[in-house]
Amino acid sequence: TLQRTLSILKPDATRRNLTGKINALIEGTGLKIVGQKRIQLSKQQAEAFYSVHKERPFFNDLVEFMISGPVVVQVLEGENAVQKNRDIMGATDPKKAQAHTIRAQFAESIEANSVHGSDSAENAAIEIRFFFSDIEICV
Ligand code: CMP
Repeated sequence: TLQRTLSILKPDATRRNLTGKINALIEGTGLKIVGQKRIQLSKQQAEAFYSVHKERPFFNDLVEFMISGPVVVQVLEGENAVQKNRDIMGATDPKKAQAHTIRAQFAESIEANSVHGSDSAENAAIEIRFFFSDIEICV
């Protein structure tokens, strides 16, 4: 089924100039980048985006990390886009990620793990709307 998902290339990735290498892995799955922009998140935006995690012990560190430099937010489209993107990202903890994945190859730690991807189609719709208007997405 044709889906969209939200992807974020995190500050550890932009800092090390890895956006092209990561995009090549994403595009290698067949997913199409139909929206993309490089932005500096405000603290308020980062807190709102990750509000589901606000009770977690890592929440404050996560917010500080996500505003420590620019991110690239993306809309990916294709068959089973949510799962396809999660497969190429690999496990949250790079030590547990399979060797071919983005996180195994590039992540620095469980926090600075290079990429975010929506975990369901429902959340994807919410997360895409958080960053993109319709005219910023072009198939
Ligand atoms: P992400 O997929 O963006 O969703 C929540 C983020 O919290 C996660 O990736 C990690 O970057 C970060 N994080 C930091 N510490 C942890 C932890 N112990 N468990 C899960 N996520 C963590």
